[in-house]
Amino acid sequence: MKELALVTGGGGGIGAAICRALAPEYRLLVAGRNAARLQAVAEEVGATPLELDVTDSRRSQKVAAEHDIRCLIAGAGFGRSGPVGAADAIASLRSHLETNFIGAVRLVELLVPRWKESGGGRVVFIASSAALDGYPYVSAYAASKHALLGYARSAAKELARHRIAIQILCPHYVDTPMTAASVARICETTGRTEAEARASLAQKNPGGRLITPREVAEATLELLRSPRTGVVLELVGGDSIEREPGLSLD
Ligand SMILES: NC(=O)c1ccc[n+]([C@@H]2O[C@H](COP(=O)([O-])OP(=O)(O)OC[C@H]3O[C@@H](n4cnc5c(N)ncnc54)[C@H](OP(=O)(O)O)[C@@H]3O)[C@@H](O)[C@H]2O)c1
Repeated sequence: MKELALVTGGGGGIGAAICRALAPEYRLLVAGRNAARLQAVAEEVGATPLELDVTDSRRSQKVAAEHDIRCLIAGAGFGRSGPVGAADAIASLRSHLETNFIGAVRLVELLVPRWKESGGGRVVFIASSAALDGYPYVSAYAASKHALLGYARSAAKELARHRIAIQILCPHYVDTPMTAASVARICETTGRTEAEARASLAQKNPGGRLITPREVAEATLELLRSPRTGVVLELVGGDSIEREPGLSLD
């Protein structure tokens, strides 16, 4: 029987593309908060929709206890820009950490004890280029993604002997609703057209173009098939860059 994979943030953007790429090889739980969007993706790829807010620890415990999940693709996340020193800076840090960091690693913490007993498991964290570098006006988002990378590096080394693989994907700008929201903000604050704003973000990617969600999905599949753990892969809008090779699972 195919292994069961849980994709958080699976109702749209990168997560939905990952569900499409994984569907031939895995049974899928497609998780998120928006029931209608989950249902649409689930029907399209033949997955089971699962309402799960990753900041809800009780619901996360229930999901981990009730399903024999062998792979976790932690895609749920959000980013909101704001200056250092803003009145809501600490609240913003807390909410970014709660979703992007704790929300992702809580599921790992819940799944690892069973994986240690049953011969292994696999995790792909959808981090960001903001896990590798800092950028103006996204300190809370970057902090949450740096935290994810730090956790993943340590967990990968600790868990390799249990055949538990922890991989980290770091995409630059991807063509999803999250980037569309950034485009809308640029238009609002600068008066640029949508095309100009999109082009300005594409230019910031080292490859000079936006990454497609499908490219992120294919990289996820590649990392799931890897015989190594702790691999850090940077997606730039061109050939991907292996920033850290990780170590062998054997
Ligand atoms: N777009 C980019 O340029 C880019 C670049 C690098 C990394 N990333 C990362 O890639 C991941 C996916 O982003 P995306 O671009 O696909 O953005 P998106 O279209 O806005 O999707 C984000 C997903 O996260 C889910 N989500 C947010 N908060 C959640 C919560 N508390 N519990 C459960 N699900 C939650 C949303 O689902 P619901 O609304 O249904 O809950 C949504 O499906 C994020 O972690 C993001 O940081 C994105």
